[in-house]
Amino acid sequence: RIPVWLDVDPGHDDAIAIMLAIHLPNIQLLGISTTHGNSSAYHTTRNAARCLLAFGGSKLGIRVYPGASEPLILPARYALNIHGPDGHGGVESLPEADDPAVLELIAKDKYGETIRALDGMLSHVKQTWKKGAGKKVTVVSCGPMTNIALFISVYPELLDAIEQFVFMGGAVGLGNKSAVAEFNILCGPHAAQIVLDAPVPAVMIPLNVTHQATVTRDIHIKLLSGSKQASDISDEHLPSAQTPLRHTLSTLISFFAETYKSVFGFDAPPLHDALAVAYVALGKDVFPEAQSRRYRVDVELTGQHTLGETVVDVWGYRNECSDSSWGSEGKNCVVVLGLDVDKGLQRPA
Ligand code: BDR
Ligand code: CA
Repeated sequence: RIPVWLDVDPGHDDAIAIMLAIHLPNIQLLGISTTHGNSSAYHTTRNAARCLLAFGGSKLGIRVYPGASEPLILPARYALNIHGPDGHGGVESLPEADDPAVLELIAKDKYGETIRALDGMLSHVKQTWKKGAGKKVTVVSCGPMTNIALFISVYPELLDAIEQFVFMGGAVGLGNKSAVAEFNILCGPHAAQIVLDAPVPAVMIPLNVTHQATVTRDIHIKLLSGSKQASDISDEHLPSAQTPLRHTLSTLISFFAETYKSVFGFDAPPLHDALAVAYVALGKDVFPEAQSRRYRVDVELTGQHTLGETVVDVWGYRNECSDSSWGSEGKNCVVVLGLDVDKGLQRPA
């Protein structure tokens, strides 16, 4: 199994990413760190623990490590219009945020002190590296990359223990928080540049690909009923959910669908973050190599209109950047531009 560290800011699509990371059979989820992002770190931490409990991750010993509440340099900004004030607007039947069982999932040391994201990442990466005789950890990022940039800066000697950074964020020529900037990168542009400059392979799951994988009404209905058959339900109303988990997921999707409709005019919401986990677990079968390219990618850190844009050197102007190194010298990022949605959906959940 692939050892994975997951950094999230739940968030509706983050919740699906957590569920997949817990249950996809070839992923070994080591732990979850949380960051400011869709809502404050206070809410995203509790939401991550609520998801862990509801989705069965707590029984596997997985814990939540609270991370950064502010970006490295800029003030925090949130996505309350998309995810609601607490980051989980409209989501029903998750355990309450102050449920003792939820709070218990927030990692503590033997003195009862909270273990923060950096310490959590440090100990799990070290353990996996040592115990697994050199087994590297894949870091999957579903929010602003503040925790990950801090990890890189504080523990550069541990970069050898990282297989790759796979992050949902950025875009090629698109934006969703400004004309050209995607939310996760705009909320932590300096952190994103630090990740891209690290001498470790980086994989970007940009809006261009996440917008190809939306939860259509047909998929939503199948999820409610648990049926794999194409549905011929023409009713205006959705059928009722067959299980409490399906009900929770359905309320999550409905809220996300509404906000994506009203803010962006989308007919169906994209499940952005879920694709970062799917990329690691499902690989080339679902994300064909021919639709991914390695480019030089940098983040716009000073632009008046372009702050947070991922500048992808599609035409190779930066010809001093080679294929032989990652990080600041090289073509530093694999940009994933297409996937086979049907194949992805066929996989057992
Ligand atoms: C990203 O921004 C957040 O709102 C989502 O959770 C996702 O990580 C999409 O731009
Ligand atoms: Ca997210």
